Amino acid sequence: MTAINLTERIPNNVNLAGDRTLQRALEHWQPRFLNWWHEMGPEDFSAADVYLRTAVGVDAQGWASYGHVKMPDYRWGIFLADQIADRTIGFGDSFGAPVWQQVPGEFRSQFRRIIVTQGDTEPASVEQQHLLGHTCPSLYDLRNLFQINVEEGRHLWAMVYLLHAYFGRDGREEAEEMLTRHSGDVDKPRILDTFNEPIEDWLSLFMFTYFTDRDGKFQLKSLAESAFDPLARTCRFMLTEEAHHMFVGDTGIARVIRRTLEVMKEHGTADPAAIRRAGAVDLPTMQRYMNFWFTSSLDLFGSEVSSNAATTFANGIKGRPDESQYQDHNCSNATFEMEVPDGQGGVKKDAAPLRNAMNEVMRDAYIKDCEIGVKRWNMQIQRAGHEFRFSLPSPRFRRSIGAWLQVPTDPAGNLISAAAYSEGMPNWLPSAKDKAFIKSLMQRVVAPGKIAAWIAPPDRGINNLGLDYEYVKLA
Ligand SMILES: [Fe+2]
Ligand SMILES: [Fe+2]
Repeated sequence: MTAINLTERIPNNVNLAGDRTLQRALEHWQPRFLNWWHEMGPEDFSAADVYLRTAVGVDAQGWASYGHVKMPDYRWGIFLADQIADRTIGFGDSFGAPVWQQVPGEFRSQFRRIIVTQGDTEPASVEQQHLLGHTCPSLYDLRNLFQINVEEGRHLWAMVYLLHAYFGRDGREEAEEMLTRHSGDVDKPRILDTFNEPIEDWLSLFMFTYFTDRDGKFQLKSLAESAFDPLARTCRFMLTEEAHHMFVGDTGIARVIRRTLEVMKEHGTADPAAIRRAGAVDLPTMQRYMNFWFTSSLDLFGSEVSSNAATTFANGIKGRPDESQYQDHNCSNATFEMEVPDGQGGVKKDAAPLRNAMNEVMRDAYIKDCEIGVKRWNMQIQRAGHEFRFSLPSPRFRRSIGAWLQVPTDPAGNLISAAAYSEGMPNWLPSAKDKAFIKSLMQRVVAPGKIAAWIAPPDRGINNLGLDYEYVKLA
């Protein structure tokens, strides 16, 4: 295991001290990052002591230590997974050749764009979540929010390191830009739409961490296959941290459902109005939140057919998640079949060259992964004896990019008229009324061991601690 020296000004396992120019450049960026954190990070909690995990190694076992830390003192740093000896390129035109320790000149701008796009999402999500601390349902949840926030900050460090270390002056300029774009900013928004959507309540946070962080998982998995070894190693370690973010979403949604089922039982009704009066979230409202975040996240994978996707695959920049599961790693002679609108109100089958369909391959894998949670949540409902079932909308529904852009369908994917679409929308996405109701539930609970009435407690605490542990010591 490569140990991380936490006493250095920038903790790292890349021997930063051995490259004084790079070290100085990053030390110059560090105070700007901290300014950004103070301005755009969690509002008002700078003085709180938060029970956080901090990376101390990059080994799968025992890579983190836990303790109370003030967030601005968190040891953000640069941690790459250990190098794999004799690693070779796993896909594309250069399959089988040794991986690259430097960026080949001809692929430089493609690599830079991908690293910048990934990097931009990390601080974006911190900005999206910066007010949520005020309305936390418990100290346990508050701590989890802050854990995610500091780790997204670290993921920004991960990408900024690559930009500084391998992209010269262009890279340094991009690193500056990371701190000047802001989520939802009219003039300088974040690059991807989903990361400009406000997250103003905890139900949205759980949906975001389940669906949108999971998009992150698939992007990181595909970059972990990259022929550019430092990028691959960076992403492999980020995936270790990312698992907790999706855990927060998965268990968060399950806990809201559990509480709702309790209220349904207590009151002997499934009527949404009655459930709301009793202070819980009715299941149809949860479905609408799911529809919103799932469809928004689907767009992050890009168009079904994309020459850009073909190029990044051919050039060894971005592979498929878990590339080793496939037989054919070249993919230049294969096709991929998909359903697209026929332009006359129907659907037709279309085959695209597989390399051009890589976005769709990834999106399919992502959807399968999303379905696992949905199945589990439906089991909860079934066990409680209710008919209601959650379902993921069809990938045709409400798309803002690609073949299904502006093709009106219902959530099941049936083609419908534009009029039927606008009429149906208020029932398919959270309405202003839904949002106002969810907002009304967001009352801050910060007594140790106590929890808001709209969500059930978690099954267990963090790091084997109890639920009444003081995970955040408020100043
Ligand atoms: Fe991240
Ligand atoms: Fe994340």
